[in-house]
Amino acid sequence: MPVDTVLHNAKIYTRGRIVEAGLAIDEERIFKIAKETNLPPASTKIDLKGNLTLPSLIDPHVHLRDQQLAYKEDFFSGTAAAAAGGVTLTIDMPNNKPVTMDSKSLRERMRLAEKRVVINVAFYSAFPENLGEVPSIIEEGAVAFKLYMSQKIGGLDIDDDDMFLHAFNAVGKMGVPVAVHAEDRETLENMRRRMEKAGRKDVEAYVKAHPPQAEVKATKRIIQLGKKSSAHLHFCHVSSAAALNAVLEAKNMGLPFTCEVTPHHLLMSSEDLKRYGTLALADPPLRTKDDVKALWTALEHGSIDALASDHAPHTMEEKEVESVWDAKPGIPGLETMLPLLLTQINDGRLTISDLVRLTSEKPAQIFNLRGRGSLDEGNHADIVVVDINREYKIDSSRFYSKARYSPFDDWKVKGKPIKTFVNGQLVMDEGELVAKPGTGQIVRWEG
Ligand code: NCD
Ligand code: ZN
Repeated sequence: MPVDTVLHNAKIYTRGRIVEAGLAIDEERIFKIAKETNLPPASTKIDLKGNLTLPSLIDPHVHLRDQQLAYKEDFFSGTAAAAAGGVTLTIDMPNNKPVTMDSKSLRERMRLAEKRVVINVAFYSAFPENLGEVPSIIEEGAVAFKLYMSQKIGGLDIDDDDMFLHAFNAVGKMGVPVAVHAEDRETLENMRRRMEKAGRKDVEAYVKAHPPQAEVKATKRIIQLGKKSSAHLHFCHVSSAAALNAVLEAKNMGLPFTCEVTPHHLLMSSEDLKRYGTLALADPPLRTKDDVKALWTALEHGSIDALASDHAPHTMEEKEVESVWDAKPGIPGLETMLPLLLTQINDGRLTISDLVRLTSEKPAQIFNLRGRGSLDEGNHADIVVVDINREYKIDSSRFYSKARYSPFDDWKVKGKPIKTFVNGQLVMDEGELVAKPGTGQIVRWEG
C-alpha cells in the first residue's frame, strides 16, 4: 500500500541535525524520515529541491479576532496569514467580542473556527468570574488561560491578589498553564492621565505612559503569587530588561515559569517609533536599545523559552488617528516572523536549532501540544519548507491578514517560507494559499 505523500530531495531538521533525506507522510502523520531508497511508494510525490525542511511554527500568541471583531481579522484571513508565514498552529487569545471566558463562548469560537481555519488552532480562555467553571473550560478544550493585568478582560478582579491565587491554584491543579500580560493597570492609568494633562498625544507619550516600571511591578506581583501556587506561569511578550531580570531570577530559583519575546521587541526600539508612528505601536511598547540588547543576551544564553508574534491586527483607520490615545496597539506579525528570524540566522545572530527550539519545540512543550513541534516519526505532519537564500523585501500589501500594514514594510529579508504543510496537506505553495477553509483542525487540551 503506498503512503499518502513523500517529500523528497530535502534537507530535514530532525533530532538536532540536518539530514539529506526524504519524508513520508501517511494519514496526517510523519510515517518515515529516511534516504529515498528506504521510503515507501507514495500516491503524491513532491520535490523539495534540496531546501531546508523544518517543523512549522507554533505561535502561542495570536489574536485571530473574528465574531464581532471580524472587521479586523477573521479565522480564515488570520490562519491564511499563518500558513503564508510557515505557522501551522496558533493559540488564539481571548480578548474577543464576546470575550472567550467560559465553556459556552469557547465552544462557539471552536464551532465557527472549525469551518474556516486553514491551519490548526488552539484556544486560550480568560478566567471566568466563578472559578468553579475552570474545569468545564478545560474540558471544552482550552489549552491555557490568559490573564490581562492592564485591564479587566474576563471575570477576575485584577486588583485582587487572593482571586489571582485562587485562579492559579484552580488551573495549576489541572496542569494547565496561565499566560500573563504583565503591565500594572494603576501605573498605566496614572501615567496616561499625567501625559494627557500635559496635552501630549504623540507616540512618545504613549511609550512614557507604558513605562518599564509598569511591566516590572506587574511581573513581580505575579512572581510573588506564583511562588505560593504550583501553576505554570508563562510571561507574554517580555520587553524590558528590568522585567526580564525579574523573570529570569524567578526561573533560576526553579519556579515553573516560562517566557516569550516577540520579533518586534527584538528588532526595533523606541527610537523607531518616530519613523513608524502608530504602525509600530503595541502593548507593551517598543523599548530602549539597552532593553533590546538585554533580550538578545538572554536569547543567546538560552534563557528565553519561546518566540511569539503577538499578531494583533487592527484596521488602518484604527491605527492612523490624530491622537495616540485613540490608536489601537498591536502589530500584525504572522507573515513577518519567520522571514525576519531566517534573516537573523543568515546574519549569524541565531542558529537553526535556536529557531526550532524557540518557535516549535518549546511552545509545544509549554502548552502540552502532544505529537507536535518536531519532525519525528509518528508526529503530526506539520512542516515548513524554507528557501534560506531567497532575498526580498517585506511587502504588507500582499499580506493575507486583513491588517495590510507593517512597520517591517520594505525591510530586506533573506529566507522565505515556500511551502507549508498542515496535517500532511500542502496549504501554502510559493506564497500562494492552496487550501480551503476548514482544512485546519481544532487542537484541544489533552490533559
Ligand atoms: C493586543 C490586541 O490588540 O488585542 N494588542 C497588543 O498591542 N498586544 C492587546 C494587548 O495585548 O494589550
Ligand atoms: Zn498581549
